[in-house]
Amino acid sequence: MRKEIHGEELMNKLVALCKRRGFIYQSSEIYGGQANAWDYGPFGTELKKNIKDYWWKKVVQERDNVVGLDSAIIMHPKTWEASGHLANFNDALIDCKVCQARYRADHLIEAASGEDMEGKSETEMTGLIKEQGINCPNCGKREWTDARAFNLMFKTYQGVVEDSSNEVYLRPETAQGIFVNFKNVLDTCRVNLPFGIAQIGKAFRNEITPGNFIFRTREFEQMELEFFVKPGTDEEWFAYWREFTMNWFVELGVSPERLKFNDHSPEKLSHYSKATTDLVYHFPFGWEELWGVANRTDFDLSSHMESSGKKLTYFERELEQHIIPYVIEPSLGADRALLAFLVDAYAEDEVDGKTRVFLDLHPQLAPVKVAVLPLTKKEELQELARGIYDQLKTDYNVEFDLSGSIGKRYRRQDEIGTPYCVTVDFDSIEDQQVTVRDRNSLEQDRIPIKEVKSYLWERIKA
Ligand code: GAP
Repeated sequence: MRKEIHGEELMNKLVALCKRRGFIYQSSEIYGGQANAWDYGPFGTELKKNIKDYWWKKVVQERDNVVGLDSAIIMHPKTWEASGHLANFNDALIDCKVCQARYRADHLIEAASGEDMEGKSETEMTGLIKEQGINCPNCGKREWTDARAFNLMFKTYQGVVEDSSNEVYLRPETAQGIFVNFKNVLDTCRVNLPFGIAQIGKAFRNEITPGNFIFRTREFEQMELEFFVKPGTDEEWFAYWREFTMNWFVELGVSPERLKFNDHSPEKLSHYSKATTDLVYHFPFGWEELWGVANRTDFDLSSHMESSGKKLTYFERELEQHIIPYVIEPSLGADRALLAFLVDAYAEDEVDGKTRVFLDLHPQLAPVKVAVLPLTKKEELQELARGIYDQLKTDYNVEFDLSGSIGKRYRRQDEIGTPYCVTVDFDSIEDQQVTVRDRNSLEQDRIPIKEVKSYLWERIKA
């Protein structure tokens, strides 16, 4: 029986496991740590890679109308004028005059009264904070500055001279790299509407209130698809990709009852969007956005066309005219997805009167697919086990572990989320059979060594 663990307790246990087992470390820890920045350890790196690979497989590889891209992080500054990020990518910031604590004004009001602040100006929010008598959550006082717009883009300088002519930005989304390459892809690949351009890469936002572990950070990875469609078919495609997001997570074992859609009301829409839905997940700290799906219309291509003076149109043969396609954009954070998978997978049960911790990760995602464990360090056992390990490691990431008691080694693999352990014991030398242990059920199958590869392949790749 799995134990019920929720909220802060679950989050604390998960963060501790991530550190203990080499999934996620605090960044720059030897210098006291860089706040809200995280480094992925060996197992976290494998897990994130598997998530990105699965996304790429389903979005790019298995489709004949989606191609990939890998564009630069530092783009021409005009990009951000055209995209609207310079003017609109702001959060309202407010400071406590007494303790200097800094908050997002909309978060303060939403927490105090539940009122939705989307679309409200900084002046309106300043008024509401005063009207509602909201105290500083840090010192309890009620002396606020006026709320002011704070642009979330990281600004830096390119080259040696630090003046405004050399100002550049770290991209706050990967999407713009796709839009500015629209014509390049059109001219060099055989794509016809509807078609998509997908990209995985880092994005940067100077978030005022990062937190909740890797949920909201200033540096994160996005997996974005810009799917170009004929105007008029956009609503249909929006529905298609909306559905796709939920199915992708459910296929990978995430509990459907912890997923739901949050359709944005018209006043909540971003400056570029005709319709937006968030796939939200029930994290230990509440229902929060995981995957945004937006109908960006022809906003981006039109703005870049106007700003660059270049033609970013598509020749529609049936109509015999150039059109500006509409864009449906499903955009998923790789780090946020990873957190959702970990939260969903964290489990505890009781084995022989003791608590066992394990990660019930889908085999496709598990950082280590199989652990090969010789029962003792005896040379013949090691040799036999090495042979099995060498055969399996060409298929996927496999661990060979000799150190400690078999119980401790199982516990370690359970916490990493390894779906299968292959144990080589003294009888294995005689009968050429090994025991395969299933992480979730703890059932053990005794099978011939020559069948191990196919036995595991069937279960892991299924
Ligand atoms: N191109 C559209 C776009 O960037 P968004 O809703 O701002 O839309 C898309 O971001 C996704 O990126 C979010 O659903 C989330 O998964 C992830 N994301 C956004 N900000 C993040 C942050 N500060 N830390 C981690 N992930 C973030």
